[in-house]
Amino acid sequence: EKGGYETFMEKEIHDQPAAVRDTLLGRTDEDGRLVLDELRISEEELREVNRIYVVACGTAAYAGMVAKYAIEHWTRIPVEVSLAHEFRYCDPIVDARTLVVSISQSGETMDTLMAVKHAKDLGARTISICNTHGSTIPRGSDAVLYTHAGPEIAVASTKAFVAQITACYVLGLYLAQLRGQTYADDAKQVMAELHEMPEHIETLLASTDRVEEIARFMADSRSVLFLGRHVGYPIAMEGALKLKELAYIHAEGFAAGELKHGPIALIEPGQPVFVVVPGPDTPHGLHKKVVSNIQEIRARGARTLVIAEEGDEDVVPFADEVIRVPKTSPLLQPLLTVIPLQVFALHLSTAKGLDVDQPRNLAKSVTVE
Ligand code: F6R
Repeated sequence: EKGGYETFMEKEIHDQPAAVRDTLLGRTDEDGRLVLDELRISEEELREVNRIYVVACGTAAYAGMVAKYAIEHWTRIPVEVSLAHEFRYCDPIVDARTLVVSISQSGETMDTLMAVKHAKDLGARTISICNTHGSTIPRGSDAVLYTHAGPEIAVASTKAFVAQITACYVLGLYLAQLRGQTYADDAKQVMAELHEMPEHIETLLASTDRVEEIARFMADSRSVLFLGRHVGYPIAMEGALKLKELAYIHAEGFAAGELKHGPIALIEPGQPVFVVVPGPDTPHGLHKKVVSNIQEIRARGARTLVIAEEGDEDVVPFADEVIRVPKTSPLLQPLLTVIPLQVFALHLSTAKGLDVDQPRNLAKSVTVE
């Protein structure tokens, strides 16, 4: 049942190419237009949408943060990401033209379910992105877009996460297409790139030796920091969450631009810091900005573990380790950059002799508020 792997988590990490592939399957017609027949909300209603809330918890909320960047870019609809358990208390501005997108692997997370209920009470349209057929959240939503990651057994979410991000891209492109955005032209190109992701993930998974070694060397770390920007920011948060859950190490992810507003005070000699570097073509000179962040923390003694695209040589002078990911367009990079962080947390947990699949104090689905 573990497909020859030692743990479910390791198997599920290796299921990721298929999780992305299957989540893309059957969602375009011969002309490359997106078809989401399964959405039981009329096209008119979707065209009317003028605000989107994403509600989710934990890893699923980080998928939602990635979705915000993509959906806003492609559709120009404002997107707010709300932790499901905070949604109700922020007195959300919701009406019939609001689309509330919930993201949940299990479809049973009580906090997320309650947020969806609240949204419905306020008159919103609700779509559930979910990995579990017939579970409670999709049943309580107007529409569902299933992720096809297959059952996820390990408590820490991996393949569901990449499937959630994939489904969010598909939803964003579909909404753009419906609204006749110029970006709809791009949609074909983005879809073509998405179809290449499974192969890229396979390439990454075939070359994890160095990440495993780094994890073993770091087994007695007391704290690890993660920096990212743009879509790399939620990936930094996800990298930190995986490490907390699996290795019980204090970890914090933050937006690289925040460094000088406080966190840089944490940097002392030997402090390990993972940095997710945007591709060199990312707009607004972000790549250069992150490279100078690496330089700043290195100058203060940080041990820099840099995740950068193939061919990005600018990071080399300031990196103690460079972990390479294949080149892709900026918005899609999270599907690749998260992989080494998952592998790192898995192997650090293993090196500490911990229970990878069942970390202490956690349950796979949280069915109480
Ligand atoms: C992290 C993790 C949790 C879940 C969260 C939401 O590895 O597994 O943070 O992502 O509890 O669960 P679902 O997606 O089932 O609603």
